[in-house]
Amino acid sequence: MIIAPSILTADFCEIGKLIDESINAGINWIHLDIMDGNWVVNKTITFGPAVINSIRKRIGNEVMLDCHLMITNAEETWQQFANAGVDLIIVHIEAVKNMGALINEITNAGKKVGIVFNPDTPVEDVLPYLEQIDLVLVMSVVPGKGGQSFMPEVENKIRTLKEKINIQKSNGGKKVKIMIDGGIKAHNISLVKEWGVDVSVIGSGLINDKGTIKENLTEIQNALAN
Ligand code: DX5
Ligand code: ZN
Repeated sequence: MIIAPSILTADFCEIGKLIDESINAGINWIHLDIMDGNWVVNKTITFGPAVINSIRKRIGNEVMLDCHLMITNAEETWQQFANAGVDLIIVHIEAVKNMGALINEITNAGKKVGIVFNPDTPVEDVLPYLEQIDLVLVMSVVPGKGGQSFMPEVENKIRTLKEKINIQKSNGGKKVKIMIDGGIKAHNISLVKEWGVDVSVIGSGLINDKGTIKENLTEIQNALAN
């Protein structure tokens, strides 16, 4: 299981230090939550390519950076995130008009591409694209803010995706990773691993929990080992 910290609930004056601390604790994947003040229900604005560019310069090229685009116009702006240095661009199926064309554009630019879908979007909407993408992100909260409660009803979606991806892999197709985002903590990480999740995004459970990032990560890894 890969742990990808989300910096959404961080003190934004401290993000450089928090990312350093995460990498020193063994993290090699960072999840960047981009909201444009329009697309998510609570109209939050987070940060954009300039901040991502600074993060990339600070951490070098070894750490994976993904951007989770909770924005209205990903089809017009994804290139800015690519240029800022992300490795993987994750777009919401509910927000994109021509997903097939967008997947091709991102792939042709040499970036990995992921599709994310909301708790009330059926998994069947994503299945037609599984052969063309690198990752599928299952939202286990309604996107918009950190620190929300995990929605266990995503289990069936994850099990369906795992089954389809395993069949695809055994036929020589793409090894699509399953990522989960929202409400993941030490108490539920083993559960989602058992369902078939490969990458867990963790925001408040790493950054705003009782201990340091290192201590919180150790607690999560211990939960995974038991
Ligand atoms: C929600 C974001 C998440 C979230 C994760 O809109 O996509 O990445 O902030 O934070 P926690 O782990 O606190 O749910
Ligand atoms: Zn996210």
